[in-house]
Amino acid sequence: MYSWFDTFGPADTPADARALRTAFSNFATGVCLVTTVAADGKREGMTINSFASVSLQPALLLWSIRDEARSADVFVASGRFVVSVLGVEQQELALHFARPAEDKFAKFADQFEDGLGGCPRLRASIATFECATWSRHKEGDHTILIGKVERFSSSHGAPLATYAGKLGAPGEIA
Ligand SMILES: Cc1cc2nc3c(=O)[nH]c(=O)nc-3n(C[C@H](O)[C@H](O)[C@H](O)COP(=O)(O)O)c2cc1C
Repeated sequence: MYSWFDTFGPADTPADARALRTAFSNFATGVCLVTTVAADGKREGMTINSFASVSLQPALLLWSIRDEARSADVFVASGRFVVSVLGVEQQELALHFARPAEDKFAKFADQFEDGLGGCPRLRASIATFECATWSRHKEGDHTILIGKVERFSSSHGAPLATYAGKLGAPGEIA
């Protein structure tokens, strides 16, 4: 079922960092799309799995963004974002939003609508959280963004999952 293998030391070299990323990816998670809108109206979106719930009262959640991501400046500066928990049938969307591109929304235009503050919001998801940025925490090569949930929706559906670099239904990838 599982195997023991090398134990690595601190991830101080690029090779160790790659091994650490592989070890981190053995934590199976759901997959989310996070979107925002810049002051000039430009929309940004990316696939993430660093989502975590934080607090019920106040309603807080977090995710973290790699500082070198193309859209990082916009996400960190913007005062809002929307997190959508993806279903297994949204794998193509997840892959599309996991690659840098100037306008990722054109290909899926009919699947988005305007949410609070003009943030693009997926019409369909397992759960959607519309957030105002509560705090930003620069830690290492990522920034943790904490969001105050201002509006949310929740439905039922088979989740999209990620594990060991694979994307798919939980039973297919683990
Ligand atoms: C399953 C999955 C999870 C990801 N999780 C994160 C994450 O939590 N934070 C992050 O910064 N990038 C994450 N990425 C990588 C981004 O989706 C990718 O770097 C994307 O190109 C960022 O968008 P941008 O290039 O438009 O800035 C993830 C990718 C995949 C496929």
